[in-house]
Amino acid sequence: MEHGVRKVGVVGSGQMGGGIAQVAAVAGFEVAVFDSASGALEKCKATHDKLLARAVEKGRMEQADADAAKARLTYAESMDALAGADIVIEAVVENADVKKAVFADLDKRFTGGEILATNTSSISITEIAAATTTPERVIGMHFFYPVPVMKLVEVINGLATDSAVTARVLALSEAMGKKAVPANDRAGFVSNRVLMPMINEAFYAWMEGVAEPEHIDEIMKLGMNHPMGPLRLADFIGLDTCAHIMNVLADGLHNERYRPCPLLDQLVVAGRLGNKTGRGVFDYSS
Ligand SMILES: NC(=O)c1ccc[n+]([C@@H]2O[C@H](COP(=O)([O-])OP(=O)(O)OC[C@H]3O[C@@H](n4cnc5c(N)ncnc54)[C@H](O)[C@@H]3O)[C@@H](O)[C@H]2O)c1
Repeated sequence: MEHGVRKVGVVGSGQMGGGIAQVAAVAGFEVAVFDSASGALEKCKATHDKLLARAVEKGRMEQADADAAKARLTYAESMDALAGADIVIEAVVENADVKKAVFADLDKRFTGGEILATNTSSISITEIAAATTTPERVIGMHFFYPVPVMKLVEVINGLATDSAVTARVLALSEAMGKKAVPANDRAGFVSNRVLMPMINEAFYAWMEGVAEPEHIDEIMKLGMNHPMGPLRLADFIGLDTCAHIMNVLADGLHNERYRPCPLLDQLVVAGRLGNKTGRGVFDYSS
């Protein structure tokens, strides 16, 4: 099926929204990116300029193509600039109330059957869709960080998502140079449903003294051919985020076996959140 998209609206210009806007513009789409925080858009534009300049420098892109991509990008201080978009991709903070308010607003602004997508990594697509009057056009488009590098888009159907909307979003993701894979709306989708319990189990193995953290990571790297061990990956993601997603799984799947390992919770309350605080499982202070 054709995606039928000419213009892409992006709400939220942070790490993910900025990356999504960049990838869409490079792929030839007209893009308007909106953020509610002062300073966020300038930071987003500066990141685009830097990454596109680096791509030209490394010979991965022609200067003319980088200039054309930049010309297709609008940094908007008002949501009005998103008018005319055929799809809006939301990438604001991971907070259900904030996302639902954004979707209720989008539902009123976009009344021509435009697709409304969310990049949430753990909130129910069905719950977000229920904030609109048109849940059939709401879908999950789960990109991975860093967006220009990571190939996957997990495309998640809510309970009411129209199959034609899914087909268009799969085609659009491919047109953005990604590999799109469909999934359904259950807590954690596929990516976090499988990844996070593995990480959590690594904390149990450490807590029970099965092996030291370095050895747990070494075994998983060399034995399973993983590029990074689960405990270092947890530090990279943020231990607070890992614990939060385990609680989302436990609540959403009605199963206590998904609760965070006590040791994971303990490191979080100690403020050892991973790379971002200088210490998590491992020490990053030096
Ligand atoms: N960081 C990751 O690795 C990752 C991976 C996949 C999915 N996600 C999801 O992507 C989303 C964004 O994450 P991020 O890492 O880019 O966060 P971020 O904090 O870098 O960016 C969020 C941006 O949203 C803006 N914002 C907040 N409320 C807004 C509103 N009402 N209207 C417009 N803008 C608003 C903020 O000003 C900020 O610039 C979250 O739902 C997150 O779960 C993140």
